[in-house]
Amino acid sequence: MKILGHRGAAGTSPENTILSFARGLELGVDGFEFDVQLSRDGEVVICHDERVDRTSDGNGWVKNFTLTELKKLNFGVQFNKYAPIPTLVELLEMLTGRSLILNVEIKTGLIEYPGIVGKVAQLLEKYQVTPQSIISSFEHKTIVEVIENYPHLKTGLLYDCGLISPWLYAQNLGASHLHPHFAFVTPELVRESHLRGIGVHTWTVDEPWEMERVAISGADIVITNYPERFI
Ligand code: G3P
Ligand code: CA
Repeated sequence: MKILGHRGAAGTSPENTILSFARGLELGVDGFEFDVQLSRDGEVVICHDERVDRTSDGNGWVKNFTLTELKKLNFGVQFNKYAPIPTLVELLEMLTGRSLILNVEIKTGLIEYPGIVGKVAQLLEKYQVTPQSIISSFEHKTIVEVIENYPHLKTGLLYDCGLISPWLYAQNLGASHLHPHFAFVTPELVRESHLRGIGVHTWTVDEPWEMERVAISGADIVITNYPERFI
């Protein structure tokens, strides 16, 4: 089972910042999960929430800030550190030359970000990391957009509810992976998915009992805030 750092290594460093990704590298993760939004001037930035309030010293919607304005905020406040918001380009440059798995979660639930799928796909291509990248989203219409326009990209259907035969759902949509919350991971789910060539990546596994459940299931990738607990 591969281990991805959630939002970098968010249990011990400011989530979705370069500090957090650097910490994950130190810990020896197999890759990272992180979230992307668009700034007012169309830059792909790494941030979980649609607003900056929870994770920075500013307030407002990410989409209403230009990149220059976002860069003036401190996204390290939760850990009493200084950490500016990273762009996807900055993260890809930082990770150049490493064969890490990159799980880009596109946050299109609350806000529509026209063109975000194309921008992400082009950057992954430019930095030659498409083969090891997975685009995931809770918004399955965004996943369908990826499948239709970038069929060579891996896709992950995020969900946190009980679905009947999710492996058939993924197969019918043409998604390559299921991304269930760990509470919905069972050996049957993994077996039925693997039989159809569909991978199972699960989140956010932070406690030993959660990891035991997932390990028994045979899932392919586990996403954790605390890679140091499991590596
Ligand atoms: O991609 C797994 C996980 O990050 C999804 O939930 O809210 O942490 O983005 P959330
Ligand atoms: Ca996420």
